[in-house]
Amino acid sequence: MGETMWASPEVAVEKKPVGEWDEETLVLGIETSCDETSAAVVKGGRQILSNVIVSQGELHGEYGGIVPEVAARAHVEALSPAIGEALLIADATFWDLDAVAATLGPGLVGSLLVGVAEAKSIAAVLEVPFLGVNHLEAHVYSALLVDPEAAFPAVALIISGGHTLLVHAHGHGSYEILGGTLDDAAGEAFDKVARFLGLDYPGGPEIDRLSLLGDPDAVSFPRAMINEPGFDVSYSGLKTSVINYVRRMEATGAPVSVEDVAASFQKAVVDVQVAKTMAAVEHAEVDRLFVCGGVAANSGLRHGMAEACEQANVKLTVPPLELCTDNAAMIAACGTAMLRRGAYSGLDVAPDPNLPLA
Ligand code: KG4
Ligand code: ZN
Repeated sequence: MGETMWASPEVAVEKKPVGEWDEETLVLGIETSCDETSAAVVKGGRQILSNVIVSQGELHGEYGGIVPEVAARAHVEALSPAIGEALLIADATFWDLDAVAATLGPGLVGSLLVGVAEAKSIAAVLEVPFLGVNHLEAHVYSALLVDPEAAFPAVALIISGGHTLLVHAHGHGSYEILGGTLDDAAGEAFDKVARFLGLDYPGGPEIDRLSLLGDPDAVSFPRAMINEPGFDVSYSGLKTSVINYVRRMEATGAPVSVEDVAASFQKAVVDVQVAKTMAAVEHAEVDRLFVCGGVAANSGLRHGMAEACEQANVKLTVPPLELCTDNAAMIAACGTAMLRRGAYSGLDVAPDPNLPLA
């Protein structure tokens, strides 16, 4: 039996010495890790020239969650047009690009493959570096993209449908994980509770909208781990409490206010997450906090974090909604920082659904 031999093509890539990438550096970013197809052009790591986002939300809505095979096929259809549009909006051509960055992981492997294969192909043809970006690290860069004052060291809360992570970002490429969820990610808990309440997918924005109409103190849901040492959280018990509460009320024939349940659930998440995050900031002895990821769009969390940071004299950066959810501008920005420190990826690097941050 012969060995299967496969070698990546040797491409003559222009690798400038570290430090020579400057404010004019133009990077194409590609994001296909989950259910958003996105392409963006970012200049100098900070200036977004374009950020095209094609959401698959409606495709998965009828299933109540993301179907990996459906997602991958939709990325195949949407990616090339998204790249074309991103270049057009940025008033750039392929030949203006200095590098191509794509999400390498974590994410759905079929979806990651689509973006990584396309990014490598473009980089190989243009003979520019390819950068395989960690999706979680990229979320941190969404803060750097919008706030000229934002800088490391900082604590970053990465809170999305797939992850809930508290990170001490010492500097570019240097991360220490302080805590995370022991079970469901915060966004996952939002989506599961919303589904149980019969709301549309994704449920986070729906719960957020309803909670504005409800009483956050109507139901006293548990705040798991809030008094435990450390920075970990757990949301699966909270989700079960919501389900049990609604079933109990229905069994007794008592009316259930969906608005009150939504508001009370959201308040429980916010209370726990704000407490753990501020404890992490104190522990890390930093004066900057970034709140990033899809759930950072949550109005209660934004408000709770802003209040706590003001009290603690901590500078808070929360990106605007379109940069909180998955987007390629953050991938390009993170890729530019990798260029600057010479962290190029080979064309033989494979997507990793479980790519760790640290
Ligand atoms: O970062 P993201 O776009 O994708 C992942 O990497 O997971 O985050 C999507 C998650 C979903 O769970 C969605 O329900 C949640 O973010 N989300 C929200 C809000 N907007 C999006 N959760 C709570 N409140 C919101 N306003
Ligand atoms: Zn994400």
